[in-house]
Order: sequence, then C-alpha cells, then structure tokens
Amino acid sequence: MAAAHSIKKAAVIGAGQMGLGIAYVTALHARIPVTLHDPSSSVLSASLKRFDGWLDKDVSKGRLSKEDAEAAKDRVKGVKGDGTEGGEALKDDTDLVIEAIPEIPDLKAGLFKRLAGILPAPAILGSNTSSISLTRLARAAETGAVGASERVVGIHFFNPVPVMKLVEIIPALQTSAETIERAKAFGVACKKEVVTSKDSPGFIANAILMPMINEATMVLEKGTATPEHIDTTFRLGMGHPMGPLRLADLIGLDTCLSIQRVLHNETGDSKYRPSGLLVRMVDAGWVGEKVGKGFYEYPKKA
Ligand code: 3HC
Repeated sequence: MAAAHSIKKAAVIGAGQMGLGIAYVTALHARIPVTLHDPSSSVLSASLKRFDGWLDKDVSKGRLSKEDAEAAKDRVKGVKGDGTEGGEALKDDTDLVIEAIPEIPDLKAGLFKRLAGILPAPAILGSNTSSISLTRLARAAETGAVGASERVVGIHFFNPVPVMKLVEIIPALQTSAETIERAKAFGVACKKEVVTSKDSPGFIANAILMPMINEATMVLEKGTATPEHIDTTFRLGMGHPMGPLRLADLIGLDTCLSIQRVLHNETGDSKYRPSGLLVRMVDAGWVGEKVGKGFYEYPKKA
C-alpha cells in the first residue's frame, strides 16, 4: 500500500494529449491545483477547452456532479511557457512537476537541469517519458542543483490518460526511496493501478508493446494482410481493444518510431530495428490520428 502522497500543488509541462490527460486526472481525481504549461497559446487554449469538454461529458452522463466538475475546472490554470523562464516560472510551492514534452533527450535533459534550479527539495521532478533513461535525466537535474537527482522519477501514464487505468513508476538509479513512495501514492490518488519498472529500455510496457507494433508494420510491409485484417486479428483473435496498427495511429507513429529507435540503439540488438515502412510513414508526416492520416484516415480535429 502506497503512503499518502503529500502533494499540495502540481505542474504539468507540455499541453499535448498526454500532458492534458495528466493535468485532468490530477485536478479531478487527486484534487490538487495544477498549472498546465505550454509555449504555444493555441495548444494551451485548445487543451483547456478539451479539459472542460471531458468534465461536461461526465456531468451529462451523470458520472460527475456539477460541483465536482466546477471544482476541477477551478483547480487547473494554463500558463504560457515551459515553466522555467522569467515571470512565467513555476512557483517554488509546487511539490510535483511532471513533464510531457516531446521525446527528445537533449530537450528533456535541459528542462530537468532548469527545473532542478527552480524547485527545491522535496519537490518531485517527474517525467512522463515513454523511453528515455531516467538515470540520464536525473544526472541532468543534478547539474542544476546538487541532490536533485534523488527527486527524479518516471511517472508514465497511458493514452488516453482519463481512460487507461495504469501508471508505470520508473526510478532512476539515483532516485530516493521517499521519492518512489510519494510518486506511487500520487498515482493511486489519480485512481490508477501502479506498477514499478527498473530503468531499462522501454521499461515494462514499451519493451513489449513497441516490438509488437513494429512487427505488425513488417507484416503489412510484406503484404501478408491489409491493415484492417491485421487489426481484426488482434481484436477478435486475442481480445485486444484495438489492433496494433490502429493503436500506433492513436499513440503517434513518430512516438512509436522514437521508442523503437531507443530500444534498438540502447540494446544494440538487431531484433529491434524499426521497419522500413514505419520510417517512411514518419518521413511522409503520416503519423496517425493527430494529423488525420496514419495507417487509417481520420477526420481533422477542430
Ligand atoms: N480521450 C479521452 N477519452 C477518450 C478518448 C480520448 N482520446 N478515446 C476514447 N475515450 C473515451 C470515450 O469518450 C468513451 O467514454 P464514455 O464511456 O464516457 O463514452 C470511452 O473512452 C470508450 O470509448 P469508445 O466507446 O469511443 O471506444 P472504445 O470502447 O473502443 O474505447 C479506447 C476506446 C479506450 C481507446 C480503447 O480502444 C482502448 O483501450 N484502446 C487501447 C488503448 C491503449 O492501448 N493505450 C495505451 C497506449 S501505449 C501508451 O500510451 C504508452 C506510451 O508510452 C506509448
């Protein structure tokens, strides 16, 4: 049983589909005030609109009272920027920050260094990374403030965050036992089941899921079957809620490729080489649902 989370104020950096979902479960379930940071005003305002839309849907379905929905709306505040610059900087009463910025190692490392300089102990420096080494991010944090590496931890949510009931907690080599326990307790407060993984390439979920998606693209590339038949095989033959190609479109083919490259580069094992088709789809910009085209076509999002 995880201990009480003791988080009084949280911040999420990056208002994309994952960051928005994390802010949502933090405000609604963990009932903590949360600032949502993004350098783009248009991304921020679109995300906050979706946030309100999710709550309104729950109210209209009778799953949430109007009062609880209004309270959740009041707990979230959009802030332009990445939380580390000038007047927009995070306040030092923030106990937990979770970054959900693009999966670019140097970008994340730079952010962790700056965050460590802003947020003193015992604030948790969390990352929603799907594949980047937490140990490396912890080392970057240590260059921003001595001792900060002990407060870095992976807090990995699943897409769509309001629906998927799992959080993977990934300690870096440097993470303290107290940080791990507080991160686990926060996951429970967000109404998620918590699993813990070592800081190994792909952690638990993506070490298994991404090779499956990669293999599915190879089967498609070989011409063995259509996308529909590959996905139907997994839905009806194995009981998965969606097949691997449809799921790749949901996650984003760019994200899938970058995780697959981490597995390949960090292990040096050729079994993880990304499929040629996956690489070319990303080259074409056909990265899935978020752009309206991947293995399938989607209506453009408003
Ligand atoms: N955001 C918010 N809510 C969503 C949503 C989204 N993107 N997509 C669906 N939902 C909600 C729907 O609104 C609906 O809610 P309701 O019960 O209030 O009406 C509910 O989920 C069910 O949706 P649907 O009836 O439209 O469709 P399904 O029953 O097929 O469920 C699904 C959709 C939940 C996405 C289901 O297909 C599923 O579980 N798919 C697998 C998803 C998965 O594997 N995610 C993990 C990806 S890996 C990852 O994220 C890790 C990363 O590191 C790569």
